[in-house]
Amino acid sequence: MKTAIFPGSFDPFTSGHQALVAEGIKIFDKVIIAIGENPDKRGLLTVENRKRLIEDLYKDEPRVEVVSYRGLTGEYCRDREIKFMLRGMRNTVDFDYERNMMQINQRLYPEITTVLLFTPSEYVAVSSSVIREVLSFDGDVAQFMPEGVDIRKYL
Ligand code: PNS
Repeated sequence: MKTAIFPGSFDPFTSGHQALVAEGIKIFDKVIIAIGENPDKRGLLTVENRKRLIEDLYKDEPRVEVVSYRGLTGEYCRDREIKFMLRGMRNTVDFDYERNMMQINQRLYPEITTVLLFTPSEYVAVSSSVIREVLSFDGDVAQFMPEGVDIRKYL
């Protein structure tokens, strides 16, 4: 069975992330959405609520698992024998960041292959940070979230 990890902060999980997972399960038998905990950074959502939001979304999709982890993503993969890391790329800024991360991971964890997918065009402007900004001014973020998700349930 081919399993990929899809790591990220997911603060919060967006419609763009959802589009990436949809692509991921076309390629892999299972996608593990892994929330990287950064103890130094207080997010908009607690890690527990980020996880709850994503779990609620995929409650009927057994091929998607949701976890949180601390430390290096590669180390988590090694512990669980995960060989593929899925990441999305919207633009050239993402490209540079993703290439650097891929190269560091390749040196530290040569057994892991990074699979970079382009974010579908309709989601290129969507990001967790845009959602946080709009929310901070009480704006409506529903169209940037997966359909049917009410972020207020997780704040
Ligand atoms: O959604 P994000 O913020 O782009 O996710 C970043 C994340 C969590 C995937 C990345 O920061 C990460 O992997 N953090 C754990 C530390 C690590 O493994 N860094 C990569 C080697 S430099």
